[in-house]
Amino acid sequence: MARAKAEVGRPTGGLLRWIDDRFPLTKTLKYHVTEYYASKNFNIWYVFGVLSFVVLVIQIVTGIFLTMNYKPSAAEAFASVEYIMRDVEWGWLIRYMHSTGASFFFIVVYLHMFRAMLYGSYKKPRELVWVIGMLIFFVLMAEAFAGYLLPWGQMSYWGAQVIISLFGAIPVVGDGLVEFIKGDYSISDITLNRFFALHVIALPLLLIALVFVHIVALHEVGSSNPDGIEIKDHKGPDGVPLDGVAFHPYHTSKDLLYIVIFLMIFSAVVFFAPEMGGFFLEHANFEPANVRATPEHIAPVWYFTPYYAILRAVPDKLGGAMLMAVAVLLPLFLPWLDKARVRSIRYRGWMYKSALSLFVVSFIVLGWLGLQPSEGIYVLLARIFTLIYFLFFVLMPWYTSIDKTKPVPDRVVYNA
Ligand code: HEM
Repeated sequence: MARAKAEVGRPTGGLLRWIDDRFPLTKTLKYHVTEYYASKNFNIWYVFGVLSFVVLVIQIVTGIFLTMNYKPSAAEAFASVEYIMRDVEWGWLIRYMHSTGASFFFIVVYLHMFRAMLYGSYKKPRELVWVIGMLIFFVLMAEAFAGYLLPWGQMSYWGAQVIISLFGAIPVVGDGLVEFIKGDYSISDITLNRFFALHVIALPLLLIALVFVHIVALHEVGSSNPDGIEIKDHKGPDGVPLDGVAFHPYHTSKDLLYIVIFLMIFSAVVFFAPEMGGFFLEHANFEPANVRATPEHIAPVWYFTPYYAILRAVPDKLGGAMLMAVAVLLPLFLPWLDKARVRSIRYRGWMYKSALSLFVVSFIVLGWLGLQPSEGIYVLLARIFTLIYFLFFVLMPWYTSIDKTKPVPDRVVYNA
């Protein structure tokens, strides 16, 4: 009997059966795809996980082709990128896809993270999915930072100089740590080589492993939904959640449409505005690194500017670096800071809604301030919005516990 049950749905012959007898192929596909039941009321916010995956694939594939022609040496790096742009067949396309992909990675990942804040996806039992997601985010930041040094342009060099020197502010070990990261007394060929190793192999491996674990953890607890209720609580006689639909074909067909739309937008940027007015590829990086001349204005790429503004809001170097580190780390603790009994914004009160709106405003304004010179009114504004950013997290246990929430429905709805 037990054998008969295990046999149900298994291929009866052929190659697939042969594989299945030796490797759980059909079983894995069923568990993660054809019989993975996700809520039927997913909205557009639920597509950014899949899109993050699409961008990850774009970055890996284009990265492999770039590596075939790039030279990781201080003497040749800049010229090899020019060579890729001008002489390598389709090199310009591969390079622009990779540089645009970096910015799009952060766009989709920020939106993916924001979805979790909208619908309380990080709350029990998905804390680990969130924590693994945050680890992905940290590795992604390191990956982008290491990659930015590789073209060996002015901003590559001086951006790395500013960020690596921050470690020097740490008492006692600071100077040694800076030397350890650079592998030299200054940023040099040696630094470029180790950043290359990190960027092309160590960090991507880590990223892929973390994404794998992220999905395994998610499928263990099941996806949440815009109502923030557990679809597993209402199952039919066949054991399938009443409000769930099979990931394939129902979600895959919808995701495919979004992927096509996403690729159209991505292509438009790659073909018509790859520099994005200096936001995706900074102007100063079209000049080769010059150890003797600082660019007029050192600013990181847009996805780091909110944190850069926080760094510069504090006059003290160590204080600024610490505040920036805490700002990056704080979202990790959201599952425990958020005391609300409901998950979704649909059923939250005015306090969380206002706090989240203010948080979004502070993040965007800080992003803009990170691009401005650190003087006059900009410093004051950076301090005000840094305060708002931190208050969102620090006061969260308080305002989420007293916020008046609405009753949550039993079953999922389409329009709350
Ligand atoms: C390479 C980067 C990433 C990839 C490929 C990825 C992929 C995915 C996918 C495919 C899903 C399921 C579909 C969906 O709910 O959108 C998902 C869910 C989720 N991800 Fe990510 N993710 C990434 C980064 C992150 C980051 C940085 C965070 C947060 C810090 C995060 C937090 C979550 C959470 C909380 C869920 C569960 C959502 C729910 O069920 O409501 N992910 N991720």
